[in-house]
Amino acid sequence: METMVHTADAEGIALGAELLRRGDVFALPTETVYGIAADARNGAAVQKIFAAKGRPQDNPLIVHIADLSMLEGLVREAPERAQLLAPAFWPGPLTIIMPRGPQVAAECCAGLDTVGIRMPSHPAAQAVIRASGCAFAAPSANLSGSPSPTTAADVLADMQGRLPLILDGGPCDVGVESTVVSVVGEHPMLLRPGHITLEQLEAALGEEVLLSGAILEKLKDGEVARSPGMKYKHYAPKADITILEGSFAQFKAYVDAHRALSPSCLCFTGEEQALGVPCVAYGREGDGDDQAKHLFRCLRALDEQGDGIVYARCPQKDGVSMAVYNRLVRAAAFRVVKL
Ligand code: TXA
Ligand code: MG
Repeated sequence: METMVHTADAEGIALGAELLRRGDVFALPTETVYGIAADARNGAAVQKIFAAKGRPQDNPLIVHIADLSMLEGLVREAPERAQLLAPAFWPGPLTIIMPRGPQVAAECCAGLDTVGIRMPSHPAAQAVIRASGCAFAAPSANLSGSPSPTTAADVLADMQGRLPLILDGGPCDVGVESTVVSVVGEHPMLLRPGHITLEQLEAALGEEVLLSGAILEKLKDGEVARSPGMKYKHYAPKADITILEGSFAQFKAYVDAHRALSPSCLCFTGEEQALGVPCVAYGREGDGDDQAKHLFRCLRALDEQGDGIVYARCPQKDGVSMAVYNRLVRAAAFRVVKL
């Protein structure tokens, strides 16, 4: 299959919308990461997403809408908590897990009776939904197991020959996937951290939001992942990444002590020179937004350099940084050294 890369302009939007209507798939930008879209009501179309990504069938997809009227049929009901969250954060990088409605293809939800819904703010994503009349299911547009793509070039690197079309809308703003919150249980629960923070969710809901177990630590043996995606070893780079938790001085001392291993560093902006080894800087220290925006590109840059030992500076674990830590600790296969 030829993969065409087309600017996400009016012509590109029309091409994408036509593919959706025909039951085909294509990649497009959202404000978080690039996604692979298919009509969420069409099971055969949704199957093509799993095939393109090599994704396990038991990992459900998020359904994307352009306005609230599209919820009807996609959810059985919009719980009260969803009605507080939607006006506060939509359109934007929040996915709300709700009871699944009859229109959602079973293939989207991996047999669950719930569905994740999100209203993206990216104009190209909205325009495609409006032009096609299709709510689309879309996972991140990477091959299963590699970092989510935040540029059209990164999508192409994974998806060449596997998709007919990639819409290029430039680099994504947020850089990590949407926050996923469930409102189907007794208490609201954060299943995946993202740009919308735990604190913001709690403020909008006026109550505590529980943190799913798998966010900051590895699932224990036998523990069930509430968000099926959390159980997979995501974002696995070729390099052996270890997160070093401590000050810059401690980090530098550790790197110096292990120079014989020829390590590289995933560091904060401005630290490259002082470290004196090959470095990829993933953002400013203490700036979760900046780190989130660049992390996946940096993980891919490390892959392009080949394998080897990588020491990573540790982001904070609250606010937007919780999302950065959550992705990085998976890329590091949960190897964290406290300095
Ligand atoms: O920002 C995003 O959400 C991007 C863009 C393309 O919109 N999409 C994305 O999709 O990250 P994906 O498939 O890579 O991640 C979806 C996550 C997975 O961890 C999945 O297990 C979880 O959401 N999920 C989806 N439906 C669920 C459900 N019904 N219950 C629990 N978790 C669910
Ligand atoms: Mg993904």
